[in-house]
Amino acid sequence: MSLLIRNGTIVTADDTFVGDVLCECETIAAVGFDLQAPEGAEVVDATGKYVFPGFIDPHVHIYLPFMGTYAKDDYESASKAALVGGTTTLIEMCCPSRSEDPLEALALWKSKAAGLSACDYTFHLAVTRFDEGTAEKLKVAVEEEGIASFKVFLAYKGAFGIDDHELYQTLKTAKALGAIVTAHCENAELVTELQGKLVAEGKVGPEWHEPSRPVEVETEGCHHLMTFAELTGAHVYVVHTSCEEAVAVLSAARARGVQVWVETVIPYLVLDQTYAQRPDFEGAKYVMSPPIREARHQPVLWEGLGDGTIDTVGTDHAPFDFKTQKHMGHPEADKALNADFTPRGSAANFTMIPNGIPSVEDRVNLLFTEGVKKGRLDLQTFVKVASTAAAKVFGLYPRKGAIAVGSDADLVVYDPEYRGVISVETQMMNTDYSGFEGRAIEGRPSLVTVRGEVAVRDGVFVGTLGRGAFLRREPTHF
Ligand code: URP
Ligand code: ZN
Ligand code: ZN
Repeated sequence: MSLLIRNGTIVTADDTFVGDVLCECETIAAVGFDLQAPEGAEVVDATGKYVFPGFIDPHVHIYLPFMGTYAKDDYESASKAALVGGTTTLIEMCCPSRSEDPLEALALWKSKAAGLSACDYTFHLAVTRFDEGTAEKLKVAVEEEGIASFKVFLAYKGAFGIDDHELYQTLKTAKALGAIVTAHCENAELVTELQGKLVAEGKVGPEWHEPSRPVEVETEGCHHLMTFAELTGAHVYVVHTSCEEAVAVLSAARARGVQVWVETVIPYLVLDQTYAQRPDFEGAKYVMSPPIREARHQPVLWEGLGDGTIDTVGTDHAPFDFKTQKHMGHPEADKALNADFTPRGSAANFTMIPNGIPSVEDRVNLLFTEGVKKGRLDLQTFVKVASTAAAKVFGLYPRKGAIAVGSDADLVVYDPEYRGVISVETQMMNTDYSGFEGRAIEGRPSLVTVRGEVAVRDGVFVGTLGRGAFLRREPTHF
């Protein structure tokens, strides 16, 4: 199986040049000029198009039991959506409940992907409880299972959230194992207090989600994690950073030597708080945590990506249907409209809206349209933040995130002249709405490969379900 991509503008995190890429079987065999096509090779003319390394989404949820329901995608819909959107590697959060054994949870999450995913994948293993057996189990996860990153939640008290003793022990254990700890930073106690106050005041609609988790809540969470990281020496990665104040705390920590990497996610870059204020409960479509912020934060996030203060752009893809799942937090949900669940009646409020926005399909095109096309990101930075940086932080580089001899032949031939509009009508994600409905995109992948096999042609999935492989990773964060 050979594939020659000819005469494209090859863009990596470090370089841009017009040339050819030859893929033999699953890997890149040559990168250069005027390469000869081997007998029987498919030849793709990429003139006028970009050739990018396959994009990596470092933060998705696919199998997710959460807030009394389950996220809507499985690996069939999620990997198809990812690939159509140019993402060839998914890093999913494996999120056990507090009572679940972490290694059993890992086996369960792997079973959801194996034999079904069309793209490659790996997991961050969430530590949602730390007891006497946990350190040994985490050692097994790293040394035998090839998991090189963990996840902790400072939020979601009573569900995934851990206390400070558990946080300290997790970071200490991770440091010893060379694993990086990804973290959701929001102060859980403050969230509980503010939610209670707002609900007691009758402020129950989705527009009150942001005020229940204001920037101070996230900023305190970041500061909290930075203190613990500093005292343990653990390497940490702050997921879904939404606001200027949190970025400032993380930058200051980095400047004083804390080993911290920073992620933002596509909803924060292109949506603002007014979406969650839309009438008729439509705001629920935009409820995620930390919340979508005021527009003033967006330039800071874009600048942070440009100057390296922010390392990666993920999605935090967490898909829930509007009519049957987001409505779980509607005080007057109509049973006829929502036949699949029992409305909680007048006791329901915004705290019961499943948190998350479907976005795995749209990240790359939105980042290209809003970032590159609008002059906020240069092409190499675009590749860095959407692919290469995640590969480096999470132990996948140079297998992923690179266009180099020996790297996996995960490639995106990208057409910058394509014009389209995002819509639920055409999306592959398995939700009944798109948070980006009607938004124009300027560019899309015209060809996507997974380890040398073409998986997408002109927006159509042509790949193989089950071909996606679990990516074992070595720890590098000692
Ligand atoms: O709202 C969000 N972020 N939903 C998914 C769970 C998480 O916090 O990452
Ligand atoms: Zn989170
Ligand atoms: Zn998440």
